Amino acid sequence: SFSLSPIMMSIHSLLLLVSSIYLIGAVHSLTCYINDDEGNLRTQSDEDWKFCSFIPFGTPNGGPRASGIGAATENLSGYETLFGQNSPLYSVLTTCIYEKYDFSKINPKLGADPEYMLRCICNTNGCNKPTSFAKFLAAQKH
Ligand SMILES: *[C@@H]1O[C@H](CO)[C@@H](O)[C@H](O)[C@H]1NC(C)=O
Repeated sequence: SFSLSPIMMSIHSLLLLVSSIYLIGAVHSLTCYINDDEGNLRTQSDEDWKFCSFIPFGTPNGGPRASGIGAATENLSGYETLFGQNSPLYSVLTTCIYEKYDFSKINPKLGADPEYMLRCICNTNGCNKPTSFAKFLAAQKH
């Protein structure tokens, strides 16, 4: 009967391990929409992203802003608690928070007036398409 030598077996195991890690990474990578002030829109997949963000009035002209959010840029434990409540009976589809940023507290040169921002977070691929707020909410239904 055919049998692999020990060195071939360990190479085979290593290849299996590497491909498993690659597959796990691919499964956990989230795809979000991203746009900029010039109106350029694209999708991006990132292993660090846990949520996609949708800011209904986030561009200078009041249009929607889309991006991805990872643990490297902010503490996501509050969102993870909210989304973790899902059961067959109940699902959190998106979480929207209204925030105040007072950059003058860091440096008065950064602007005297605080900025207010309504921001929604969702966690499925492509869930943050920058459309109207009503269309964003309708697209969360699944
Ligand atoms: C994130 O916030 C939670 C709850 O406030 C806290 O327990 C945790 O230590 C924080 N994690 C980091 C990395 O700051």
